[in-house]
Amino acid sequence: METTIQVDGNATKDETYRQLYPQLQGLISGEPDLIANLSNIVSALKTAMAHYSWVGFYLRYGDTLVLGPFQGKPACVSLTVGKGVCGTSAVEARTVVVPNVYEFPGHVFCDAESKSEIVVPLVRSGKVVGVIDVDSHEFNQFDDVDARWLEQVAGMVTEELGGPLDAYRTWAAERMHEGAS
Ligand code: SME
Repeated sequence: METTIQVDGNATKDETYRQLYPQLQGLISGEPDLIANLSNIVSALKTAMAHYSWVGFYLRYGDTLVLGPFQGKPACVSLTVGKGVCGTSAVEARTVVVPNVYEFPGHVFCDAESKSEIVVPLVRSGKVVGVIDVDSHEFNQFDDVDARWLEQVAGMVTEELGGPLDAYRTWAAERMHEGAS
């Protein structure tokens, strides 16, 4: 497995995602371990995308989103479905782009320096099973280009890691959380 991420530092954002996407597929190819794969995906995204200050997964257990593999500063462990940017994306099953977090009602500050954000749902068999959350320390950093590519990454996760994702959420729900659905 090739673990070196190579993107052209002068490329546009769209081109950078285009160069990165097959490398994400290469990182998870043939590897069944969910934690290893989610960890490598967020590491590769953070390595390649200069406008990210934080990127991570939250996995859903009932009405709670629980922190998963991430890159960046330590973050809030538990979020509520329906509240904040992540919770809104989860309850509405849609990508939420926030140009200015100060203008988003109920935004949850895990990092006081965060200024803009994008959250993309992980949809499996019609249900939101988690989200990908990305923050930036600058305003207006996320747009349709990020949305389109992060939705592709979310699709990669739910399709190619769907089995391990279901198994892990069931295991964690029984031992630690209120229910996986
Ligand atoms: N800002 C998010 C909380 C998660 S952190 O950004 C990592 C929200 O409002 O849901």
